[in-house]
Amino acid sequence: MSAQQETRRLTAPDIGARKGGEPIVCLTSYHAHTARLLDRHCDVILVGDSLGMVMHGLETTVPVTLDMMILQGLAVMRGSKRALIVVDMPFGSYEASKEQAFMSAARVLKETGCGAIKLEGGRRMQETIAFLVQRGVPVMGHIGLTPQSINTIGSFRAQGRDKSDWKAIEQDARAVADAGAFSVVIEAVAEPLARRITAALSIPTIGIGGSVACDGQILVLEDMLGLSPRVAKFVKRYGDLGPSIESAVAAYAADVRARVFPGPEHVYSMRKKEK
Ligand code: KIV
Repeated sequence: MSAQQETRRLTAPDIGARKGGEPIVCLTSYHAHTARLLDRHCDVILVGDSLGMVMHGLETTVPVTLDMMILQGLAVMRGSKRALIVVDMPFGSYEASKEQAFMSAARVLKETGCGAIKLEGGRRMQETIAFLVQRGVPVMGHIGLTPQSINTIGSFRAQGRDKSDWKAIEQDARAVADAGAFSVVIEAVAEPLARRITAALSIPTIGIGGSVACDGQILVLEDMLGLSPRVAKFVKRYGDLGPSIESAVAAYAADVRARVFPGPEHVYSMRKKEK
């Protein structure tokens, strides 16, 4: 056996088997460098369509394209070795029919090498999820607040804060699980409902503004690092990188203007002549 052990990547079935076990750690990444930093600590790295807002300054995720997802999915695959990489299906790439969903998902799997895709929607996506899973596409569901529906829901507000809304959200969760998804993201859902859904489902729930009782948690990396200008209530800031990036940039700008960068240690001398 080679002295260098190959690192085995986690798979969708590995994550699916973690129901009720050790919490599943997930974060988003869109780049090789951040993927490399996350890889040792995260079970799942999601190449989220939140890249539309974070990388491109868009107002919503609606304009994100399949090509954008594939490009960043590839970058994250190159930067990581161990985590399961899940790539989001962007708006318009899967809703028209289950066949459209399969063609888009097949592109994502083939062109990035990732281990699973994520799509938004509960009951309305049940047939599509089943179709994909039966054809070899591991699916992570996403219910509760589904940001791609912003133009029909009107605002990014928490779901299930009135008990009268619970039934529909519970039915969505069950539909995703029954269709064969290996896990489901529960976004911005009242805590007692997220807890109740987690107890009821046989697949792991991944909370983002859900409950500490969820089987795992996910946040957008730039939100928790303090790089995003506006964040939702459910974001805990674990870092404050904005000011330290700005002070590094200010120091660089001052050095360039004062002609003290590059210093002698950053430039190339001539080779010494051989006699
Ligand atoms: O796009 C994304 O980053 C997501 C997470 C917020 C779950 O879907």
